[in-house]
Amino acid sequence: MSIQEDKIAKLVDRRAAARLGGGPKRIEAQHAKNKLTARERLELLLDKDSFEEFDMFVQHRCTNFGMEATHPDGDGVVTGHGTIGGRPVFVYAQDFTVSGGSLSKTMSEKICKVMDMAVRAGAPVIGLNDSGGARIQEGIDALAGYGEIFERNILASGVVPQISGIFGPCAGGAVYSPALTDFTLMVKNTSYMFLTGPAVVKSVTGEDVTSEELGGAAVHATKSGVADFAAENEQEGIETIKKLFSYLPQNNMETAPERETSDPVSRVSDVLNSIIPDNPNKSYDMYDVIAEIVDDRDFFEIHRDFARNIIVGFAHMGGRGVGIVANQPKMLAGVLDINASRKAARFVRFCDAFNIPLVTLVDVPGFLPGTQQEYGAVIQNGAKLLYAYGEATVPKVTVTLRKAYGGAHIVMSCKQLRGDVNYAWPTAQIAVMGADGAVNVLYSKAVNAETDPAKQEQIRAEKKAEYEELFNNPYQAAQKGYIEDVIEPRNTRFRVIRALCTLEGKRQDVPAKKHDNLPL
Ligand code: HXC
Repeated sequence: MSIQEDKIAKLVDRRAAARLGGGPKRIEAQHAKNKLTARERLELLLDKDSFEEFDMFVQHRCTNFGMEATHPDGDGVVTGHGTIGGRPVFVYAQDFTVSGGSLSKTMSEKICKVMDMAVRAGAPVIGLNDSGGARIQEGIDALAGYGEIFERNILASGVVPQISGIFGPCAGGAVYSPALTDFTLMVKNTSYMFLTGPAVVKSVTGEDVTSEELGGAAVHATKSGVADFAAENEQEGIETIKKLFSYLPQNNMETAPERETSDPVSRVSDVLNSIIPDNPNKSYDMYDVIAEIVDDRDFFEIHRDFARNIIVGFAHMGGRGVGIVANQPKMLAGVLDINASRKAARFVRFCDAFNIPLVTLVDVPGFLPGTQQEYGAVIQNGAKLLYAYGEATVPKVTVTLRKAYGGAHIVMSCKQLRGDVNYAWPTAQIAVMGADGAVNVLYSKAVNAETDPAKQEQIRAEKKAEYEELFNNPYQAAQKGYIEDVIEPRNTRFRVIRALCTLEGKRQDVPAKKHDNLPL
């Protein structure tokens, strides 16, 4: 063997050893926990043979607590770039088989390197987390490493899409990196996120709680909203990330990928002409409306199990990528509350940052009343959604299907929040409030002046009919130019697509400022 051949053989061996991370035993232990290794995850995530690894030979520099004795190549994280569906992406995957994936200073340097390159190259970043947190033996160096990553998450925000997959532990301050990214996916039963674990909770509050109950995927996808997706297993999780990726542009200078479709733009949906129940207190399913108007009935929902009174997600219309925001009359009558406002505001801001036009479907009876909501700052949280729509400069097309009452009408992408094209169905009720509420406020004295209950009911019914005739329709708004047109429901698909086509070259600015001060 020549010297060169010998050196190449050593390189091949060293690479093979590095690929084993913490070694076969730890890989086995990982599999026994129903978890894949970092490399197996990347293999599923990226196009075949597209992965280019960086920093495979990076080693930690710690000399405390016996760490000087072992220097595994790669040090607990696999980083690099590859493609998904042929589109470039930068990735990192924490390797639990090396010191429990705990974050050393060198590991953070590897992660920061791919994040810096992603911003320079204008490509998204996907981070797969599976880590015991700050590497205890490195002390403050590990904490500094987290700080460096967080700063990059912040600087990359709104420049390239960032996606976090949580595939194992993610605890302590480590949770803040996913929280700073655009989308977070968790895997049920094998991943958790919390600031302090069950033992600390028990000692501080006396509360008995398991990791899953405290910060499992189901909890974060339904109660806190920290996770946008909860996957049944890792394979499903990776597939979901890939699907999500397919809707996102590469960076804030590009538009979302277009998708060919054989679904005709001119397709009418007769079913929409009879979807609104005669009884205004009856519900219908907004998912049916969305399916009728988007290409191929294909809708990719974000935050499906959180604040289900509002629906957000991606679709294509006439081949163009759009973000859909829609009240869901089937859940709490589609009312806006704290969580629905937070959920939709964050989605609207993502779409605006990444040039994804917004299609808003409105059927909202108002904001949820009550002390719980007021004490939880529904005012400020509702203002988030108002703010998000008002500052958004992407094309905004809105269709009011039925109720659009009071402040909720204004918040849901109305004309005055720089809505571009606002349509309403003939069943729309764009008004300050519903007829019952209005009659109660305006005529309670007149009603109470009557002692005969039948007479009282007659006054109520007459005044209600008068109010409905005058206000509970779209024509007041149409007469004043607050909406562009009253459209037949069956034509919604092509009317919205035409509007989006017209708005393709839209240019709109916000006044120059350092940054805004949205109501956090
Ligand atoms: C160094 C760690 C580690 C850590 C785990 N390991 N966490 N090494 N620093 N933070 C090592 C273990 O010693 C073990 O090494 C290997 O990883 C696997 O860990 P196990 O405990 O055997 O695995 P498991 O039973 O699955 O438990 C996983 C775990 C547990 C729940 C994550 O390891 C754990 O509680 N770790 C500590 C978590 C923690 O408190 N981290 C600090 C959070 S504070 P060997 O060699 O024995 O296999 C924080 C601050 C961030 O992160 C601040 C940012 C601003």
